[in-house]
Amino acid sequence: MAEHVRVLLSEEEVDARIKEVGQQISKDYEGKQVHLVCVLKGGSFFMCELAKRITVPVSLDFMSVSSYGSDTKSSGVVKIVKDLDESVKDKDVLVVEDIVDSGRTLSYLMELLRDRGPRSLHLCTLLDKPERRVVDVKVDYTGFHIPDEFVVGYGLDYDQRYRNLPYIGIVEFDD
Ligand code: IMP
Ligand code: MG
Repeated sequence: MAEHVRVLLSEEEVDARIKEVGQQISKDYEGKQVHLVCVLKGGSFFMCELAKRITVPVSLDFMSVSSYGSDTKSSGVVKIVKDLDESVKDKDVLVVEDIVDSGRTLSYLMELLRDRGPRSLHLCTLLDKPERRVVDVKVDYTGFHIPDEFVVGYGLDYDQRYRNLPYIGIVEFDD
């Protein structure tokens, strides 16, 4: 089936908002080093742009989790595919994610990281679909609240494609 992508948030809008979020984080972490934990693969584009906008010292690590189930919905079963390289103990950890949807992935991940003894643990997401929440997750920094639509771009994929789009779009199927 043919498909096209309709722009929801332009490159300019996304970049401007990331700059603002970066400024807020820089303020909140003043005098500290922030340890960014990127949730692969989707969080990677956002994390790179965000990190460039943060003025306090930054260190980075990466983690990959997968949820089993159908392609556009998460089933609630989360598996660690790639764990962090470094310990988060006593660090000021900020998890960076592309999107919070049902909340299942993040709820699991935040719990797991909390058990590893970071000094502080917060969550930053580029996108949030609050209407879809099944599990409660405290989000500390949000780029944009978006409606219940399947979006791609800026790290988000549809069947592994479209991650490289410099904007956020909605996949529409042509009939
Ligand atoms: P959760 O439902 O909050 O656990 O979301 C888990 C994951 O589903 C996210 O990290 C994304 O990888 C993926 N996801 C959720 N909504 C979308 C979407 O609109 N587009 C692309 N991926 C999505
Ligand atoms: Mg993700």
